[in-house]
Amino acid sequence: MKASAPGKIILFGEHAVVYGRPALAVPVTQVHVDAEVSDSPRAGIWIHAPIIDLHAELNSLPPDHAIASVILKVIQRFGISPLPNLDISISSTIPVAAGLGSGAAVSVALIRALSASLSRPMTDDEVNALTYEIEKIHHGTPSGIDNTVITYGKPVYFMKDRPVETFKTGNPFTIVIGDTGIAAPTKESVGDVRRLWIRDQFNLENIFNEIAQIALIGRRSIESGRTEMLGELMDHNHEYLQELTVSSPELDSLVEAARKAGALGAKMSGGGRGGNMIALVDPAKAESVAAALMSAGAKRTIITEVS
Ligand code: PMV
Repeated sequence: MKASAPGKIILFGEHAVVYGRPALAVPVTQVHVDAEVSDSPRAGIWIHAPIIDLHAELNSLPPDHAIASVILKVIQRFGISPLPNLDISISSTIPVAAGLGSGAAVSVALIRALSASLSRPMTDDEVNALTYEIEKIHHGTPSGIDNTVITYGKPVYFMKDRPVETFKTGNPFTIVIGDTGIAAPTKESVGDVRRLWIRDQFNLENIFNEIAQIALIGRRSIESGRTEMLGELMDHNHEYLQELTVSSPELDSLVEAARKAGALGAKMSGGGRGGNMIALVDPAKAESVAAALMSAGAKRTIITEVS
């Protein structure tokens, strides 16, 4: 049984989402994780993940291992005993630790492939809830936006502790993603924003409210097909993220380079300090904006159409 899951980017609302404000995220289908589960002639559950050079039997891995923890959760959930003999292969084109949701995508693809191969069907809501549990093992207190957008594979208007709202795009639009190549743990930037918030709640709450407005207008613009508005919204959202101290010189210079090369707007995306930035572009300018990002130091670019 095979299953796959896309990457994701946050369009608007990162960090503010941790404080109950809405955020928008969209799947990035150009990159994906593929998982395949089949019966094994050998005893045990064998995992093959060449991208991380992993070829091991489940029991030889620590229980909190990124892949083992997913398999153990699924087995536990279905109360399966004795364990079946399985071969599990995982491949991925999603860059790791780059804010593109590679961890959540591994969980979603693997959970789906396992549930199909064990003939225990799961709804999207169940896949989402289980992936969130796994995200919490690895990321502390994630808002849940990654597992949600990756499970449903649609644009998501996300608010913590609220039912999932997916929405449609009135018109497709094109985003160039630029990767700084700097691995920056989201936990740290979230912790730093928490310290700022403790010192100056009034100011931070105001910034979160402004970001919430941007996310709300962003959703309306996307739904009604007035996607040209998104550029300006990105620029504003980036300024607020700078105020929250989660941007970095590298992110700022990629954002600047994208705008100079003709992007309609740009911002960092995700936890910040490193990881990715995104730029809204006219499709005809996508390649030249991507080239400008590479010249400005990006380690990798992805052009994606949100439709
Ligand atoms: O770094 P990413 O793409 O996983 O995004 C983190 C988004 C935050 O809002 C900063 C944290 C969260 O859990 O929502």
